[in-house]
Amino acid sequence: MTDFLNGAKRTHMCGALRGTDIGARVTVMGFVAKSRNLGNLMFIDVRDRTGVVQVAFDDSSNADVFAKATTVRGEYVVCCSGVVRSRGANVNKTMPTGEVEILADDLKILSEAETTPFVIADDVKASETLRLKYRYLDLRRKPLQDILVMRDKITRTVRNYMADHDFLEIETPFLGKSTPEGARDYLVPSRIHHGEFYALPQSPQLYKQLLMIAGMDRYYQIARCFRDEDLRANRQPEFSQIDMEMSYVENSEDVMQIAEGLVKKLWKDCLGIELTKPFRRIPYSEAMDRWGSDKPDTRYGLELVDVTDIAATTEFSVFRSAIDGGGCVRAINAKGLCSSMTRKDVDTCADFAKSCGAKGLAYAMLKEDGSVTSSFFKFLTEEQISAIKQRTNADKGDVIFVVADADGTLVRTVLGSLRVYLADKYSLYDKSKFDFLWVVDFPLLEYDKEEGRYVAVHHPFTSAKVVDIPLLDSDPLKVRANAYDMVINGQEAGGGSIRIHDCKMQSKIFSLLGLTQEQIVDKFGFFVDAFKYGAPPHGGLAFGLDRLVMIITGTDNIKDVIAFPKVQNASCLMTGAPSQVDPKQLAELALEIEEK
Ligand code: AMO
Ligand code: AMP
Repeated sequence: MTDFLNGAKRTHMCGALRGTDIGARVTVMGFVAKSRNLGNLMFIDVRDRTGVVQVAFDDSSNADVFAKATTVRGEYVVCCSGVVRSRGANVNKTMPTGEVEILADDLKILSEAETTPFVIADDVKASETLRLKYRYLDLRRKPLQDILVMRDKITRTVRNYMADHDFLEIETPFLGKSTPEGARDYLVPSRIHHGEFYALPQSPQLYKQLLMIAGMDRYYQIARCFRDEDLRANRQPEFSQIDMEMSYVENSEDVMQIAEGLVKKLWKDCLGIELTKPFRRIPYSEAMDRWGSDKPDTRYGLELVDVTDIAATTEFSVFRSAIDGGGCVRAINAKGLCSSMTRKDVDTCADFAKSCGAKGLAYAMLKEDGSVTSSFFKFLTEEQISAIKQRTNADKGDVIFVVADADGTLVRTVLGSLRVYLADKYSLYDKSKFDFLWVVDFPLLEYDKEEGRYVAVHHPFTSAKVVDIPLLDSDPLKVRANAYDMVINGQEAGGGSIRIHDCKMQSKIFSLLGLTQEQIVDKFGFFVDAFKYGAPPHGGLAFGLDRLVMIITGTDNIKDVIAFPKVQNASCLMTGAPSQVDPKQLAELALEIEEK
């Protein structure tokens, strides 16, 4: 028993009270959301995680308690006891508890509160910076509480589903070894081993594969991952994965079906939506050709159209030099958008395309009145113009955008980004719909011009498709991987692969990636060694938990789904992390800070 509560026991959560509780004696506890003093009658709205209930104080029936109630201010923490009664004619239909109120005969003030820096309201006006500084107050708001409640439901559903499918939940270390490949590591200096560092895991990838070699058969973990990379709307420096790995898988489908089953279960249990059909499987090359992205959103059209052959017949120098340089010319038709777009809007699209790396963006606005404003039709014959219109299925009211470049991949990705930009800006899709698909058959390797070597598209432990293995020696960029990404609404929700389980093949891939034998032993020796003692064929996948929560709760800000998130420059506005440390701590670590 605490002094504060003086024996009081909470009987109900605030949001739980209904008409069926009328006549019951109850005790609720929570924050004061609002109070109104009508002279001899006073109402206090008490709020907890589950909702708000109105508590009435009547001067005539209980003067002491009434007097105490008049001292209560917003965000005080209170304990109210009394009897539930009907609100009669004053029912509030907008509140789930609006049929009833508690006529209080006891009030305990458990904690007083100063005026909060911003009003705790569902739709808050305060800046995000202020709210993040007082995150614990921001989290008192219902929209954020609802998201964390949903996040809990999601992780619980995940745990049940994984257990039902014989996956063991196993934790792996935070203090690990820095290994190359991937994003920049967060390093932790060792006090005992001066000059040596642990790395926080970017993912539990190596550990989970070692767990398969250890015979754990099926593993999963809701794992915290750390990546020191540039932050964007859907990225945080520390984030969570639903990480899984399974042994004795025959092919990608074995893992994909488990992962797809989990997503279907989540949508059913958390959103009440039954997803019956299998998700579409789209080869990477098709995704790039049609949508200019390896994570296409197929809720809207604006597909890329290849017009290289038509462009090749023209004298337009932009087209010619792209084609002569071995590239291509592609277009998208922004159907029906001409009347919504001014010349200035089109110029903004061109600026956007340039910011994505294009040298320019050719356009043709086909106006409703039959007139045309185009940056490139003047270089084309009537026949070539009509061929382009026909190919892009363009008509009056449409806008055609064209990108040409000697780098064919750039043409695709620029148009892919422009497609997303147009769809968002002109609301070309139904935001309440979900779009699920798998992208499969990724290339195993890509060439990094800056580093002058091949790098793994997924990670270096991904296996090649058996039919493509001979190409590893002759044409490595043509080799396709047993890798798959699940894409939801144009976001990479998760990704994984079937792994290499043969140490010779693993060494071969490491050397293709330009690692010397010495580096392999130094960086991955423990890992490569493990494969010498028997390794079951295995594969897995990791979902970005935060991204799944974002998609399920319909927010486009990753900070909304994390209790204590960081901002763009990776700092925490509430705690002030990162911060300088005591010189004594630095000395213990034998570290010195160089002035910048
Ligand atoms: P990958 O690097 O693709 O794969 O990560 C898996 C998923 O994690 C999410 N994600 C992020 N979410 C928030 N903030 C970030 N900074 C961030 N980075 C990634 C994405 C992504 O799809 N070990 C492999 C998985 C495997 O092969 O099994 C891995 O980490 O949703
Ligand atoms: P110019 O003859 O240079 O005025 O170019 C005519 C049009 O072609 C302008 O709208 C340019 O933005 C556009 N353009 C330039 N480079 C490219 C390119 N690589 N792809 C598509 N359009 C381009």
